[in-house]
Amino acid sequence: MMNDLDAIVATAKSAFAQARTPADLENAKAQFLGKSGRMTELMKGLAALSVDEKKSRGAAINLAKQAIEAALNASRQALADAELATQLQAEALDVTLPGRQRGQGGLHPVSLAQERIEAIFGSMGFDVAQGPEIEADWFNFTALNTPEDHPARSMHDTFYVEGGSATAPNLLRTHTSPMQIRYAVQHVKRHRIAAGDSGAGLFSGAMPEIRVIAPGRTYRVDSDATHSPMFHQVEGLWVGENISFKDLKSVYLNFITTFFETDALQLRFRPSYFPFTEPSAEIDIMFESGPLKGRWLEVSGSGQVHPQVIRNMGLDPERYIGFAFGSGIDRLAMLRYGVNDLRLFFEGDVRFLSQFQ
Ligand code: DAH
Repeated sequence: MMNDLDAIVATAKSAFAQARTPADLENAKAQFLGKSGRMTELMKGLAALSVDEKKSRGAAINLAKQAIEAALNASRQALADAELATQLQAEALDVTLPGRQRGQGGLHPVSLAQERIEAIFGSMGFDVAQGPEIEADWFNFTALNTPEDHPARSMHDTFYVEGGSATAPNLLRTHTSPMQIRYAVQHVKRHRIAAGDSGAGLFSGAMPEIRVIAPGRTYRVDSDATHSPMFHQVEGLWVGENISFKDLKSVYLNFITTFFETDALQLRFRPSYFPFTEPSAEIDIMFESGPLKGRWLEVSGSGQVHPQVIRNMGLDPERYIGFAFGSGIDRLAMLRYGVNDLRLFFEGDVRFLSQFQ
């Protein structure tokens, strides 16, 4: 049969076991071990007993007290363990989950094509120049031998912007050709100063050749599967003292075979007209194998720089001569990557664009 002490120990154990929080547990502890708790009361009761009874009863009370304290510690530990388990559960980290990856960016196919073009011409000693997209009438037309009433202006459907004058920005450049003038004028100015030339009149002294490409965005009022109102061109210019069509052909052939990574293609010049070149030619290429085999494809305008344009560069056409070309970068990129609708380049659809990475 249970004596009174065993009963108290059992009550204490079950009270401790029911505690859900440390505060519950401390309250339960007070009922048994506190200043006016059950065990303390029992100890006080010892005073009324005889010496022998005190001894045996005291020892029994102490044992019971130790049992209660042991139960209390066990419950404290159990509560702490449970709390830790809950916390671990809440903060669980699945280290086997695949990590979140940041999408790898990449260059646009037109930029890739442009970088290729820059690298190839760079290897042939061409400088790479950039110029403004909002251009002045002078650079876009007049200096390129296309005066205001010239019928050739209607070849370009131009976006005009408000304000401006003949030499102030007033249109979106319709081609990269204005960079011929901008670059050449700077080049001539620099070398005249270096040569101690006064700078008046056309320059007929000695200077290093002009050899430059100018890639960039160009604009025309035009939009269908092969035309975009914004497109890309690369201008090429080589001016020196003995530059001929032969040089144009060898440079362009070297460029185009390197760009397409094949020697199995032919190049032809087809007579054409541009105000800033005389004579002028379209450059066509034909692949001798592959899906485009056997078709002549127009890739560039070109020609010998017109003497009036040489003058507008500040040079004496009696001494200086050169050639120029203007090729569509988007078209070259379409041919290289087998894209048949130009608009795909400019819709910004990652599913399309990521195929070029
Ligand atoms: N600028 C001309 C165009 O956009 C292309 C061109 C033709 C550029 C002949 C040239 C050139 O430099 O010599 O239609």
